[in-house]
Amino acid sequence: MTVQATALIEQLTALRERALQELAGVHDAAALEQWRVEYLGRRGRLAELMRSLGQLLPEERPQAGRVANEVKEALEQAHAAKTRELERRALQEALERERIDVTLPGRRPPLGQVHPVTRTLREIVQAFQLMGFQVVEGPEVEWDYYNFEALNIPPDHPARDMWDTFYITDPHDRAAHGPRGPMLLRTHTSPMQIRVMEQTRPPVRVIVPGRVYRYEATDATHESEFYQVEGLAVDRHITMADLKGVLTEFARLLFGAERRVRFYCSYFPFVEPGVEVAIDCYQCRGAGCRLCSHTGWLEILGAGMVHPNVLAAVNYDPQEYTGFAFGMGVERIAMLKYGVDDIRLFYANDLRFLRQFR
Ligand code: PHE
Repeated sequence: MTVQATALIEQLTALRERALQELAGVHDAAALEQWRVEYLGRRGRLAELMRSLGQLLPEERPQAGRVANEVKEALEQAHAAKTRELERRALQEALERERIDVTLPGRRPPLGQVHPVTRTLREIVQAFQLMGFQVVEGPEVEWDYYNFEALNIPPDHPARDMWDTFYITDPHDRAAHGPRGPMLLRTHTSPMQIRVMEQTRPPVRVIVPGRVYRYEATDATHESEFYQVEGLAVDRHITMADLKGVLTEFARLLFGAERRVRFYCSYFPFVEPGVEVAIDCYQCRGAGCRLCSHTGWLEILGAGMVHPNVLAAVNYDPQEYTGFAFGMGVERIAMLKYGVDDIRLFYANDLRFLRQFR
């Protein structure tokens, strides 16, 4: 064998040694690619040596060629093995890095909830729906006529002092009045009594949930915006006994079947007689406690038999028809139901408070 051939074979063997040794020090894909280009690339070291095969004697080429092929194969195999090794390691590292502990408790998605006033409103509405009342809603911006006059409260009547009113138009400026008087924010849901009766004939059986407004300083029991639920039933032969039956049933649905209910005289211009309704204090069962201010009774709503003047205002014949009406403050009912002692808590937007009503 010529010196040339022997030298080439030695170079090839040395190349394999060196390449494999270097490969052992390769630890990432970039270095591996660099290694491949250097040794196995078209202009790489192996290719270079293979090109010099052509300079050997023809009879020496096969032997040297075989060695060259062996080296090539060895390097290719080593490259493939290294590729797999790096992939495996990368996967392993990713698994390590992204490891999740399936035994950890999950994160709770934040769940919304119904506001306690809304919840109470729905309970009230449901109780009356159960008794056949239909739900209607009306405008919060209202005419003086519906809020006061048609409800038997003429202008300058002292009873207007019962409702401190937010006016939209100046009540003293006649030029600013609409066809139904000054415009205002309704102080109660009672104007819907008139609007409903204007549009239907008896029998009428409706409840009106909605927001009302009073020009009032805020304190533990007063807000300038709050909710009411109004009720109205008008038909032939409706008596005070119907009023008492419906409202007693309501009180028991909301506050417990064992509640005792008390009706006592009160005054609202649009009813006659007018009453206030109280339940026996469920906390002390009538013995007297802080909740009931040591009276044993909790006032829950105002009510009465619809005043003949109100029926006349909507062209219902007071000789033929009678009815009862009631109105209650939803926040007040919620306060009593949940033992909340300050109405402002409902609107302070403090989640620590609100989350208690899940
Ligand atoms: N509208 C009255 C108020 O806001 C409540 C009420 C309604 C009283 C119906 C009697 C009948 O105070």
